Amino acid sequence: MINHLKMSNIGPASQMELEFGKRLNLLTGDNGLGKSFLLDIAWWSMTRKWPAELNPKLTAGKVALPTNKKQSAEIEFSFSAASKFMENKSRYDPREQRWTVKQGRPANPGFVFYALADGSFAVWDPARNYWKSKNEKNKERPSAYVFSPKDVWDGLQCEDGAWLCNGLIRDWSGWQKERGMAFDSLSTVLEVLSPSADEKLIPGGLTRISLNDVRDMPTLKMPYGQEVAVVHASSGMRRIISLAYFLVWCWEEHLKANELLGESPETKAVFLVDEVESHLHPKWQRTVIPALMKVMDKLMASPAVQLIAVTHSPLIMASVEPHFDATQDAWFDLDLVGNQVALTQRQFVRQGDIRGWLVSEAFDMKSGYSLEAERVLEDAAEALSGENFSKDDAKIMDQRLREVLSDTDPFWMCWRFVAGKKGWLP
Ligand SMILES: Nc1ncnc2c1ncn2[C@@H]1O[C@H](COP(=O)(O)OP(=O)(O)OP(=O)(O)O)[C@@H](O)[C@H]1O
Ligand SMILES: [Mg+2]
Repeated sequence: MINHLKMSNIGPASQMELEFGKRLNLLTGDNGLGKSFLLDIAWWSMTRKWPAELNPKLTAGKVALPTNKKQSAEIEFSFSAASKFMENKSRYDPREQRWTVKQGRPANPGFVFYALADGSFAVWDPARNYWKSKNEKNKERPSAYVFSPKDVWDGLQCEDGAWLCNGLIRDWSGWQKERGMAFDSLSTVLEVLSPSADEKLIPGGLTRISLNDVRDMPTLKMPYGQEVAVVHASSGMRRIISLAYFLVWCWEEHLKANELLGESPETKAVFLVDEVESHLHPKWQRTVIPALMKVMDKLMASPAVQLIAVTHSPLIMASVEPHFDATQDAWFDLDLVGNQVALTQRQFVRQGDIRGWLVSEAFDMKSGYSLEAERVLEDAAEALSGENFSKDDAKIMDQRLREVLSDTDPFWMCWRFVAGKKGWLP
């Protein structure tokens, strides 16, 4: 579990510092204020490698560079590792063009999963990426597994061409044919991550989609009776099934590695998820965080999972209301204050519904109306409190309101009441 991060002279703010909750952490803020950047830093702190350093196909997750090249740039972090509490301060070394890291065996934070916004995934597996002994030879182990979106589906190769992962298409069909534990786990994880009980993600039969592709292609049973090849599934479904596959693959390989090592499976995991709602319909946005909070229960025995999720969605914030527990959860918000980016840990206060969240500190909107309607409503509110508003003005305002508001808008009641009282309405 990651506890603390402090960054100086990198990213959009001159300094940022945060103390994570041990269970659920939410990150909000406008575009470009550093949410993904914070996830990259959290991943790097625990794994000591930048995602794009391990897989150059990634377009995100690049090494963090100092803002002011003439000043020292620092990342301070702490996390609870398997046998100790790990605290470290790293500096950017401009001559080496890299961040200093403590020599020797890195600490073991448990599993670290990272779902990037563009469909890339990264995992640091304590059984496969941690040097179990201090033997130099073990350094040859991969530092982590980083998948570009294509790698998730078609497989991940290392530089010498060896296959590190078969990819979703081959593994899913292989697991389905075996009818073993892996397919059961995949089906269960898909069910947990489904949008609702009526719209479950259910694997269908295997099929072929091209004369030129000899792979048996997994399918999903759609509510409209068809079995759709996973590569033809919708964007939202592909995002979730690739996440489900990634988790099951990580876990299956972890179990196999532990068998070789004669060790027990891991029980701790940190889960970094960027744009958690991406491609998801509002109905699915409402269920995705609670589902992510419990999905690891289906794989690990009594897991301790820390989830750090970035969101732009008021529905995500509303969906968390019944689950948020201030003793173990935290909400961080990035804002532009003047011309400075500020990171604030906010008190999580229930807003009731998405309208409340839209106008909260999380999204800083004046209302959930269109910009045009918002302007007309502002003018109407001013008119209601003003002195010099004539009957003719009221007629024009009434027409403007008709053009932007729905017939059932609650503002009508207030408008008709006051306008009626002032004798503006016929
Ligand atoms: N590798 C890097 N090195 C230094 N600064 C970076 C790096 N990556 C991002 N930044 C800084 O972080 C800023 C914000 O980037 P980031 O991608 O984190 O925004 P975001 O809050 O995730 O926005 P969005 O909601 O659009 O995804 C950039 O404008 C830049 O100042
Ligand atoms: Mg981002």
